[in-house]
Amino acid sequence: MIVDLIIKNPNELLTMSLPNKIIRGRDYKNIPILKNTDIAIKNGIIIKIGKNLDKELKAKKIINCEGKTVLPSFVDCHTHLIFSGTREFELVNKINKTRGSNSEVMGGGIKYTVSCTRKSSKEELKNLAIKRLNRMLEEGITSIEAKSGYGLDWENEKKILEVIKEISHEIDIIPTFMGAHSIPDDLTPEKYTEILINEMIPNVKKYNLAKFCDVFCENGFFSNELAEKILISAKKNNLKLKIHVDQLSNTNGAELSAKLGVVSADHLDYSSEEGIKAMAKANVIGVLTPTITFRLDTKFPNVTFMMENNLPIALSTDFNPGAGYSESMYLVIYFACLKLKMLPIEALASATINAAYACNIGNKVGSIEVSKNADILIVDAPNHNYIPYHYGVNLTNMVIKNGKIVFSKKDSDIIECL
Ligand code: NIG
Ligand code: FE
Repeated sequence: MIVDLIIKNPNELLTMSLPNKIIRGRDYKNIPILKNTDIAIKNGIIIKIGKNLDKELKAKKIINCEGKTVLPSFVDCHTHLIFSGTREFELVNKINKTRGSNSEVMGGGIKYTVSCTRKSSKEELKNLAIKRLNRMLEEGITSIEAKSGYGLDWENEKKILEVIKEISHEIDIIPTFMGAHSIPDDLTPEKYTEILINEMIPNVKKYNLAKFCDVFCENGFFSNELAEKILISAKKNNLKLKIHVDQLSNTNGAELSAKLGVVSADHLDYSSEEGIKAMAKANVIGVLTPTITFRLDTKFPNVTFMMENNLPIALSTDFNPGAGYSESMYLVIYFACLKLKMLPIEALASATINAAYACNIGNKVGSIEVSKNADILIVDAPNHNYIPYHYGVNLTNMVIKNGKIVFSKKDSDIIECL
C-alpha cells in the first residue's frame, strides 16, 4: 500500500490514547510512551501505528523524528479570539500599582475592548484573528474553541460569530456564543439576561452560529441565578454548555456547573472541595488557566485534590486581551507543572485529549489512534519531561494537520520518497 506520510522513529511517541478516552485521576500513569514506533498517514487519517512501518508500506514522504518527541497537536479549549483593542496599559498600571481590584480592572477592560470591537469591521477582525491563529499554529495548536463576547448586543455578537464562521485557516474553530460576558452599561443584569434569552440565544440557533454557550458567572458580572437561566435557555436551543466559574471568588460556581451538567467549567481557582467532587460525579471537565492565575496574582486551584477526586482536567491559554494575551500553550504547560504541580505527562494530556473532549471533538482529534485525524506535533525535545523544562521558547519542530505539514522549522528532516 502507498501511504502519504510516515512519521518515523521519534525518541518518544505519546499517543494520549487510553480505553477510558478522557484521562482522569490515576489514569495518567497508564498513558503509553512508545519508543521506536512510527505513524502512517493516508488521506489525512492515521492508518497504522507500529514499528518499522517504512519496511512494510511505501510512503510518499517520511519525516525522520530521531531525537524528538511526538504527540497529538494541542487543542486550545478556551479562547476569546475575536476582538480589537489591546490593553497593554493594564500591565503598566499593574506594575505602577495604580489599579483597582481584579474584578474592577476586568470589568473596565472588557468595556474598553467592547467599544473598540464594536467600531471594527468584519474584515479588520478577521485579519487580527488570522495573525493570532498563525501564532497558535506555530505553538502546535491545531484546534481551538473561540468565544464571542466583546459585542454585548446582537448586531456585534452576530458580527463576531460570523467572523469565526468565515475565517479560513488550517486551525479548526469551535464557536461559542458568550453574549453573557459582561453587562452593557445601559442595561440592568436582569434586563440584559431577558434579551439574551428571548432574542440573542434563539437567533444564535436560528442562524446556526455556535455550538456552545458560555456565561461569566462572577460577583459583579452574572449571578449564579442569572447564569442558570441563561444556560437552561441555551440548552433548550440545542447549544452545549460551558461556564466561567469561581475565577475571582467562590460563588459556588462549581456546584452550579455540576447541577447544570455543563461540558466544561472553566477557571475553578476558588472552587470549594464539595463543588469539585460534585463536578467529578457529573462528568464535567475542569478547564484550568494557570497563566491567567499567575498574571492576576489570584489563588492557584488545588489540582492534587481535583486529581484525587477524579475530576478530568483540561488546560487552556484563555487567550484574551486582558490577562490572557498569549497564544503559548508551552507557557501554559510550564505554569501547570510549576504552579499546579502537574507532572509533564499530566499537563500534556490535559492540553490534548482532555481539551479535545472539552470542545466535544475528542472522537476526532486529541490522541494518536488509528482512524483519528492526523493532527500531530513534533517537538524539539528528546523526551516529554524536557518540554516544560526548556521554557520561554517555542519548541515546535513541525505541525501536521489532517496529514499535511502546516508548519515546519528550517532544520526539520523530511525525506521525499516518491
Ligand atoms: O476568561 N473572565 C472573563 N473573561 C476573560 C477575561 C476577559 C477580558 O479581560 O477581556 C477571562 O479571563
Ligand atoms: Fe475566558
